[in-house]
Amino acid sequence: MDEVQQQAEGVSYAPSPPEEFCGRQEERERLTVLLSQAGERGQVVMISGPPGIGKSSLLSWLAYEVQERPGGLRSPALKGEVFDLPGMIFSAFRDLLKDLRRHTASTRFGETLGVERIKEAVRYADDVLEKYVAPVEPVGLLSKSGEEIIGIFARSPEVGYDRVCQAFLELLQELGRLMSGTGRIGTILLDDVHLASSLDRRLLLDIMRDLPPGIILAFTCRAEDGACPGYPAMQEELRDLGFSEVRLSGMRGDEIREMAERRFDLFVSEAAADLLEGTSGDPFSLMACFNALSRRGLDPSPENIATILAGAKSPAEIAFAGLTGSGRTWAKELSILSPPFPVPVVACMLGLQGTSATDRLRESSVFRRLPGGEYAFAHPLLQEHCRRELPADARAALNARAADCFERSMHRLPGRLHTLLSLACHFFHAREYGKAADLNLELGLRFYHREDYDTALVLTERAITAAGHLADDTLLAAAEQQRDLVRQKVSGPGRAGR
Ligand SMILES: Nc1ncnc2c1ncn2[C@@H]1O[C@H](COP(=O)(O)OP(=O)(O)O)[C@@H](O)[C@H]1O
Ligand SMILES: [Mg+2]
Repeated sequence: MDEVQQQAEGVSYAPSPPEEFCGRQEERERLTVLLSQAGERGQVVMISGPPGIGKSSLLSWLAYEVQERPGGLRSPALKGEVFDLPGMIFSAFRDLLKDLRRHTASTRFGETLGVERIKEAVRYADDVLEKYVAPVEPVGLLSKSGEEIIGIFARSPEVGYDRVCQAFLELLQELGRLMSGTGRIGTILLDDVHLASSLDRRLLLDIMRDLPPGIILAFTCRAEDGACPGYPAMQEELRDLGFSEVRLSGMRGDEIREMAERRFDLFVSEAAADLLEGTSGDPFSLMACFNALSRRGLDPSPENIATILAGAKSPAEIAFAGLTGSGRTWAKELSILSPPFPVPVVACMLGLQGTSATDRLRESSVFRRLPGGEYAFAHPLLQEHCRRELPADARAALNARAADCFERSMHRLPGRLHTLLSLACHFFHAREYGKAADLNLELGLRFYHREDYDTALVLTERAITAAGHLADDTLLAAAEQQRDLVRQKVSGPGRAGR
């Protein structure tokens, strides 16, 4: 993308880079206090608030504070992110292990962390997780049919949940011991825990209950009225364990002025900051508004701000109003994918070569590159907006394209589970009911055996709907029977993570 176009796109909607992080002094001090206490007792903190309020940015700030800041703790941070694709069990935890493995081999932390007992604990935890999630490599699954597929999926995992949990806790004990012995704090960061499957929530809770000294666990959770069922339960659990919550709200006038100046070179008057504080004080809205002012070359006067805010129904709409033609089309076309978006699928969806697609996405303000090389929308509010705007027929057509792209690229995609879950979703929403019924039914059974009953139910209900469209009574009866089986577990005693 040339400079002119980049300027037109504006500042990225991704979480703030730590060096541009503004305000939140009180919240930062609270986190600093918790860091100072983590050597004595393992600490947990939940960063909560509505979408766009700055949770992920505060988490990135914490990572910087712990790991990078000159004169800081110089301690290793491990980061995982949960994405909006039900059934991606333990993938955020596997990312934590990946980070730890990277640290064991780095020049910075290798001397402390590269010891055999940590390496061994990482290997073991990774192995157990792998076995739990994918006991049978589902390579070539789609070329198999009927009984063959059932034969693969009907097997229970080789290891139970208890071994997964034990492996993780033992690893943390080792890490905590090493950290405490060297005056450091092992920092575990998990973003968007409200999207976690019941199994991931169960593991998170079990870790919280047994967190050793020398470790701090910080996670973010979307909290809005009634929209996040996991949040109240998590809040209660934290209270019971004596841990704290940092609840974010809109930015104050002085923080708004700091953000305008530091990130956009805009000088906002007190009157304009007051207006923003009263109407659009969440950082995402502020980003959209400042990007719009810069793009149009307008002064940040109260009148101009009021005009921009009045011209759109939501901050995401303001953000997209500034995109060039192809940027907006791309966002629409990619909005039906579930992150992380694999590069070959992105390229196929946009009809481009891999490198030219990624070059463009990397420069764009509405996409971000993930640590594993995949892509996602820079902020979930942007993706949600694009999805909402799609007419039903366009949505079905894009889902068909996505299913086709996944099938074509399957041999090049490392994330088998992500591929299968994406295909199950895209076939269904493309109204390709034959393929959708088979795949959702079989995957539903797989999740039943892995005790993720919420995901099992979502998939099985898709199979029921698809069988209904096909008017296939035998398939329908099988799917309904499976649903009843799952429901018994959902309503049964001792639900995972509930
Ligand atoms: N303290 C901050 N300083 C500067 N920019 C911020 C700050 N907090 C959030 N932002 C910006 O606001 C937007 C939304 O923030 P984000 O951290 O993604 O929110 P959330 O995770 O709560 O949805 C991002 O574009 C981010 O860069
Ligand atoms: Mg976030």
